[in-house]
Amino acid sequence: MIKKQITIAIDGYSACGKSTLAKDLAKKLSFIFIDSGAMYRGVALYCLQNNLFDDDTNPKQVDIIHALKNITLSFQLINDNNCLFLNGKNVEELIRGGEVAAVVSKVARIKEVRMKLVMEQQKMGANGGIVMEGRDIGSVVFPKAELKLFITASQEIRTQRRYLELKSKGIEAKIETISSNLAERDLMDSSRKESPLIQVADAIVLDNSKLTREEQLDFVLDLVRNLV
Ligand code: DC
Repeated sequence: MIKKQITIAIDGYSACGKSTLAKDLAKKLSFIFIDSGAMYRGVALYCLQNNLFDDDTNPKQVDIIHALKNITLSFQLINDNNCLFLNGKNVEELIRGGEVAAVVSKVARIKEVRMKLVMEQQKMGANGGIVMEGRDIGSVVFPKAELKLFITASQEIRTQRRYLELKSKGIEAKIETISSNLAERDLMDSSRKESPLIQVADAIVLDNSKLTREEQLDFVLDLVRNLV
């Protein structure tokens, strides 16, 4: 459908369907799909595995910055699923669990962590033809992206979606725990000093609370068609 290798930046709060939309778009357009949150989760998992949090689960910042050179992240497509590899090991399942969710925003606040991951993300998108989703994609990673989207959905819907997503993966979690984790992370992500989640002026806002997956995809494909 499209010949031009544009860059599509998708930002928004936790669990509002950014990944689903980004995956659907990338498939339709034959673009690369990158879930940048998976990379922050990968760093958080490394920190958990290497005792880089204190007893109050605060990150040991100096040690983490020092350890960044030992962290290699990559993606591999396995059974049509983009899986995160941390130092050569498939950690896709581990990074989705509650332990990582509870600490990832604390790690994502660290400037040096962000610098490393942003640099890697920019390399992945150097040739365009990419859909990347996260919190700072339109503002920091690809400020010149041809299409920027800011996705929102009600807290209730987002909680329900995350609950069903975890359940489908065999991960048990309470609705209340998910809801409070989402609210806590949203607050931390949008109030942090280093590249907080913001809605940039040139982003198109899409509230998908009442849209089906197909309706959401069609809406964005129309936007893409008008661009190329
Ligand atoms: O999208 P997610 O829930 O998998 O993201 C995990 C965490 O990583 C989230 O709390 C915010 C952070 N993150 C970020 O700071 N910047 C990004 N580009 C993507 C995610």
